[in-house]
Amino acid sequence: MTISIGDKVPSATLYRMGDGGPEAITTDEIFKGKKVAIFGVPGAFTPTCSAQHLPGFVSNADALKAKGIDSIVCLAVNDAFVMGAWGKDQNVGDKVMLVADGSADFTKAAGLELDLVSRGLGLRCQRFSMVVNDGKVESINIDGAGTFEETSAESMLGSL
Ligand code: BEZ
Repeated sequence: MTISIGDKVPSATLYRMGDGGPEAITTDEIFKGKKVAIFGVPGAFTPTCSAQHLPGFVSNADALKAKGIDSIVCLAVNDAFVMGAWGKDQNVGDKVMLVADGSADFTKAAGLELDLVSRGLGLRCQRFSMVVNDGKVESINIDGAGTFEETSAESMLGSL
């Protein structure tokens, strides 16, 4: 079942690229005591994700923080090496934390899977955005396959 408003986000260990390689970070560390904007994409370096979704959160990071967001997280079912390279390519700096859900543990527990096996991409996550306050979902949006509208940074800004 897909996670919804009022639910607690699932517990999982995610990975981000550090100076010396992939570093584990738990969902507790990401969400506890913070208001977090998290968005998920079907894949790093894919066209919509690179041209619109991630850049929108980078350019609106300050505006989101001015509206009470403490941190912004981008999640994909990719490995930490790929996420690290994507973050560098997109010049995210410290505006957005890119996290790898390489084994899709968070994605599956949240019911946000996207089956792209027939396209050679395996199991990925749907394009989603959520505002999570101290581990509880305050809002969630999901864009259907091939669409990009509800989950943008601009849309989130308008709803805060
Ligand atoms: C997308 O950007 O929406 C997308 C990327 C890869 C596979 C499917 C969808």
